[in-house]
Amino acid sequence: MIRVRSISVLCFLAVLAGVMAATEPTSVRAASSYVGSAACQPCHAGEYEKFQKHSKKAKSWKSVATMAPKLTPEELRGCYECHVTGYGKGGFVDYATTPQFADVGCETCHGPGAAHADAGDPSLIGKPTMATCEGCHNASRVRSFGFKPLLHSGAH
Ligand code: HEC
Ligand code: HEC
Ligand code: HEC
Ligand code: HEC
Repeated sequence: MIRVRSISVLCFLAVLAGVMAATEPTSVRAASSYVGSAACQPCHAGEYEKFQKHSKKAKSWKSVATMAPKLTPEELRGCYECHVTGYGKGGFVDYATTPQFADVGCETCHGPGAAHADAGDPSLIGKPTMATCEGCHNASRVRSFGFKPLLHSGAH
C-alpha cells in the first residue's frame, strides 16, 4: 500500500517536472535571479542595442502608463504579468523601486540571468520555446481581462 502510494507521488512529481520544463526555458532558471536587460549589454551589445531600438517589449511600460489612469489597482497588477520582467518572481515590484524590470526584458525569454551574467557561462542561461511565448501571447489569458487591452489598442 505504502509502495503504491509513493509510486503515484513519484509519477505526480515527474508530471509536475514535465510541466515546469515545458514552461520554463531551462531548469537552471530557478537557481538564478533577475538582473535586468542593461546587465546583458556589456557582453551582448549587439542584441541589447537592437532590442532597445526595434522591440516594442523594450517600451512595454509606456503601453501600461498610457492606460494606467483608467485602471483599478487590481487591473494594473494584472498588466504586470505580461508587461514587465519577473513580476511576483523576484523581479518587478513597481516602477519606482525596480525601474530595471519595467520592460519585457531579455530575461522574460531567457530566464533569470544573474548567474550567467556573473560567470559568462552559456550553460547558465535559458533559450525560449513556444511555451515561453504563450505565457503572454495567449488568447485565453488576454480574454480573461475582458479584451480591455485589445479594445483600447492604444487608440484611446
Ligand atoms: C560577463 C559577460 C556576459 C554577460 C553580462 C551576459 N552574457 Fe550571455 N553569454 C556570454 C558568453 C561568453 C556567452 C557564450 C558565447 C556567446 O554565445 O556569445 C553567452 C551566451 C549567451 C546566450 C546563448 C547561450 C547558449 O546556450 O548558446 C544567451 C541566450 C545569453 N548569453 C543571454 C544573456 C542574457 C539574457 C544576459 C543578461 C541577463 C547575458 N547573456 C549576460 C557572456 C555574458
Ligand atoms: C512576459 C511576457 C512576454 C513573453 C514571455 C513574450 N512576449 Fe512578446 N510581447 C509581450 C508584450 C507585453 C508585447 C507588447 C509590448 C507593448 O507594445 O507594450 C510583446 C510584443 C511582441 C511582438 C510585437 C513586435 C515587437 O516589436 O515587439 C512580437 C513579435 C513578440 N512579442 C514575439 C514574442 C515571441 C516570439 C516570444 C517568445 C520567444 C515572446 N514574444 C515572449 C510580452 C511577452
Ligand atoms: C496575458 C498577457 C497580457 C496581459 C495580462 C496584458 N497584456 Fe497588453 N499586451 C500583451 C501582448 C502579448 C501584447 C502585444 C500584442 C501584439 O502586438 O501582438 C500587448 C499589447 C498591449 C498594448 C499595445 C497595443 C497596440 O496596439 O500597440 C497596450 C496599450 C497594452 N498591451 C496594454 C495593457 C494593459 C493596460 C494591460 C492591463 C490592463 C495589459 N496590456 C495586460 C499581453 C498582455
Ligand atoms: C522575445 C524573446 C526574446 C527576447 C526578449 C530576447 N531574446 Fe535572445 N533569443 C531569443 C531566441 C528565440 C533565441 C534563439 C534561441 C535558439 O537558438 O534556440 C535567442 C538567442 C540569443 C542569444 C544567442 C545568440 C543568438 O543570437 O542566437 C543571445 C546571446 C541572446 N539571445 C541575448 C539576448 C539579450 C541580451 C536580450 C535582451 C537585450 C535578448 N536576448 C532578448 C529570444 C529572445
